[in-house]
Amino acid sequence: MRSFSRRLLLATTILPLHQAFAADRVATPAQTEGPFYPVAFPADSDNDLVQVRGQAARAMGTILHLQGRVLDGSGAPMTGAMVEIWQCDSQGLYDHPGQAGRERRDSAFQGYGKVLADAQSSYRFRTLKPVAYAGRTPHIHLKVATANGRRLTTQFYLAGDPQNERDFVYRAIRDARSREQIEMRLQPANGLEAGAFATTMDIVIA
Ligand SMILES: [Fe+2]
Repeated sequence: MRSFSRRLLLATTILPLHQAFAADRVATPAQTEGPFYPVAFPADSDNDLVQVRGQAARAMGTILHLQGRVLDGSGAPMTGAMVEIWQCDSQGLYDHPGQAGRERRDSAFQGYGKVLADAQSSYRFRTLKPVAYAGRTPHIHLKVATANGRRLTTQFYLAGDPQNERDFVYRAIRDARSREQIEMRLQPANGLEAGAFATTMDIVIA
């Protein structure tokens, strides 16, 4: 009886410590999938959305190199994760049957891409700096599926964009540290591509 209660005491003192370690990384908050996830995937679904295979033209818009790692709550790499992104073109048009004016969209923009995170759990996309469309602040949609069956759907925003505070999806995230996890801080992609931007966004699935 005595040893049992000692074990109980140990368990209650160790647990909060463990939780403190697990909280080292703030989880990337989930966000709505929205209405424009592809119903049919483009023939070219790779991680370069700016260049469609078989087309000479490059997508219109400002290029953004989006990269990062998929991590668990303790910061450990989650290898084998599949990362998907989708977004509108430089005119604000999605490649989706529910998109009014879809026929005017930039066919040189892939609109959707996916990549399997590598052995270091790193992922990388060449895509566009997102633009606003009616009712929404600029954003990139993401879905992540880990090898152990975890799922996360969310959206990435441009840090400091004045339209964020008026966006009903962005505003649903109240916590400042959670917001940091979905705000992209852009820097010139020096040495990578002239005129392009780059950002590093770790995805934390806690
Ligand atoms: Fe959207």
